[in-house]
Amino acid sequence: MKQYDIDTIYHLVALMSATGEQNPQLAWKLNMGSLHNILEIAREQELTRLFWPSSIGVFGPSTPRTETPQETILLPTTIYGVTKVAGELLCNYYFHKYGVDVRSIRFPGIISSETPPGGGTTDYAVEIFYEALKRKRYTCFLDKDTVLPFLYMPDCIKATIDLMKTPLSQIKRHDGYNVTGTSFSPEELASEIMKHIPEFRWNYRPDFRQKIADSWPMSIDDSQSRQEWGWKPDYDLPSMTQDMLERLSRRFAEGKL
Ligand code: SER
Repeated sequence: MKQYDIDTIYHLVALMSATGEQNPQLAWKLNMGSLHNILEIAREQELTRLFWPSSIGVFGPSTPRTETPQETILLPTTIYGVTKVAGELLCNYYFHKYGVDVRSIRFPGIISSETPPGGGTTDYAVEIFYEALKRKRYTCFLDKDTVLPFLYMPDCIKATIDLMKTPLSQIKRHDGYNVTGTSFSPEELASEIMKHIPEFRWNYRPDFRQKIADSWPMSIDDSQSRQEWGWKPDYDLPSMTQDMLERLSRRFAEGKL
């Protein structure tokens, strides 16, 4: 930090929701330990700005599931969610106690064409693209009508950078801002992919991740982010699907996947 004169950190480390349930002790240690370390560094070094991602994992079965408000019940049933609620509180504390300018977004499921996801409940929405292109078949680990909120990576990056660029005087929250792109079910995503790959077939074999998905919101009210720092997504389900398939097809053709 001192040697390179670092003024901003994006601290993205975490064990995700599904992997967290396999090893809750490690999830707590890693997610909270690393955040605490970074907050301490930010305090000691008087860092200009720190970003830490929160998640829809902060919500639980008693949270309203549609248009989930910014301020609502936060009683998650996964250890991942517990670390995200505790993390939000710790960030807020460091801001008020020490003036650490930490900012955070409650990310929904993230879909990227570049990096395969690992250990999340929303991972199906990336796996399905690879399998549709490779084998024209996919077995989904969530049930067909499980609606969850998602964000395409270009929107995710835009949201993060826009939030970080906003003057401190406009930032009212240092816990986690609600942000969403578009909500859909596995059946809706698969049908959208089939418009591009007509031979694509899929079925469902829900596993332990179904319970996690059922405890999360179906849609998110992100109006505070829209008002305070101008959040607005560029992609919806059709444009995200088309872009994912174009990018992944190119990499397949080049032998890079
Ligand atoms: N994508 C994450 C997960 O599934 C949600 O934050 O765990």
